[in-house]
Amino acid sequence: MAEPFKLDSRLKLCASFVRENSKVADIGTDHAYLPVWLCKKGIATKALACDIGQEPLQNGIKTIEKYNASHMVHTRLCNGLSKVMENEADDIIIAGMGGETIAEIIDGWQYSKNNNKHFILQPMTKSNELIEYLYSSGYEIIKQDCCKERKIYTVMLAAFSGKKTPVTKEFTYLGKLSPKTNPIHREFLEMEIRNLENKAKGDLKYKNVVENLKKEL
Ligand SMILES: C[S@@+](CC[C@H](N)C(=O)[O-])C[C@H]1O[C@@H](n2cnc3c(N)ncnc32)[C@H](O)[C@@H]1O
Repeated sequence: MAEPFKLDSRLKLCASFVRENSKVADIGTDHAYLPVWLCKKGIATKALACDIGQEPLQNGIKTIEKYNASHMVHTRLCNGLSKVMENEADDIIIAGMGGETIAEIIDGWQYSKNNNKHFILQPMTKSNELIEYLYSSGYEIIKQDCCKERKIYTVMLAAFSGKKTPVTKEFTYLGKLSPKTNPIHREFLEMEIRNLENKAKGDLKYKNVVENLKKEL
């Protein structure tokens, strides 16, 4: 099906993790680009565009109306997934927020521990805190990738596994990336290492993590 409009590569990568014929909830939707694009492309059968802010949701409504998608994309003014029922979403996208906020949103939904739900997560910062949360709470990353827009972003697909798995500090930065074979994954890890090196100046506990992560490059 023809593209209704072009998504940037960050949102495109999120979209590529959505299952065909799924019901989607986009949390923190702002302009509702992803839910409209996914429904117009025929990838999602319907979508909820949710945001905590009245103003961003108003942007979303404009996009939905502009692309005649009101029959497929509905909006909801809510904090996280608080107004999303279990049968309303198979694939939940939470993009463009800090890793700790994303973790809070997953944690706050009473239906998150259903292993049929797919969480497509794009942390802007603190992806290590998100990965730590996921593994210590019984979730796992099914796949993870990176893309380059003006900077490098990572997107992960996670689901509940029921197994709480202890992970190393290094794993919380590396996740399921393959920096030795994938140049964009490598660039993402190099960026994480630079950030950690700045922290390491004031805090010795980061030094070993930096050294170990460099061996993964
Ligand atoms: C930077 S925008 C990201 C928009 C879009 N998801 C993207 O990735 O391009 C972040 C949006 O998340 C919304 N937001 C922040 N915290 C939220 C929460 N707890 N629940 C729902 N929406 C939230 C903000 O109002 C804002 O519209």
